[in-house]
Amino acid sequence: MIVAIDGPAGAGKSTISRMVADRLGWTYLDTGAMYRAVTLLAQEQGISSAAGEDLDQLARNLEISFQPGPAGAPRVFAGCREVTEAIRTQEVTGAVSEVSAHAGVREAMVERQRLCGNDGNVVVDGRDIGTVVFPRAEVKIFLTASVGERARRRRLELEGKGIEIGQEQMEREIAARDDLDSNREVAPLKAADDAIVLDTTEMSIEQVVDRVAEIIDAKI
Ligand code: CDP
Repeated sequence: MIVAIDGPAGAGKSTISRMVADRLGWTYLDTGAMYRAVTLLAQEQGISSAAGEDLDQLARNLEISFQPGPAGAPRVFAGCREVTEAIRTQEVTGAVSEVSAHAGVREAMVERQRLCGNDGNVVVDGRDIGTVVFPRAEVKIFLTASVGERARRRRLELEGKGIEIGQEQMEREIAARDDLDSNREVAPLKAADDAIVLDTTEMSIEQVVDRVAEIIDAKI
């Protein structure tokens, strides 16, 4: 069974997807980490976020893999090198939406994501999972929350890493990324027609995990 979890930045997709996958003993696939890895490598190689051809080639040739991590969050590898932390910097976050808007980059990533879907029960999170990558996913959930709440959650996450960002700046950054992700030509962020929309603004993590698990149970 494929469970597709889409939604904007800071809605809680990765936390919820990981916890649901853990609870069920299923695989979790973080597709955002894949676009982040392409962005990191592009930055290191001096490839501009606007350089279509070079980015496409980089994306096609980049080997991205995952291994289980100590705190449940998967470790991410580009080739043999671990990039788990390096793909979460503000530099990468600031450029990933531009990089991931390129059709060739998406094609290369979607092909790999679909291969993971052949492997049995998987929870996949991203922006276009229910609409493009797995349009026939048995369960589709669109997680969202107010911009203010999403910015608050992201600030807390960054604070844990010693990075302090004001609420207003965070809201601006999140809104800018939402705007790029929702208005790109290829595979824009939107809820699939048959997705269940969950507004998590007023919900705790446990409540969201329980609700998603209930939806999956009902399908099973
Ligand atoms: O965790 P956060 O919401 O900050 O973002 P992410 O899931 O790591 O995704 C980072 C970026 O990758 C998004 O803002 C999108 O631009 C892009 N992305 C995408 O285009 N398609 C996906 N399936 C997943 C991510």
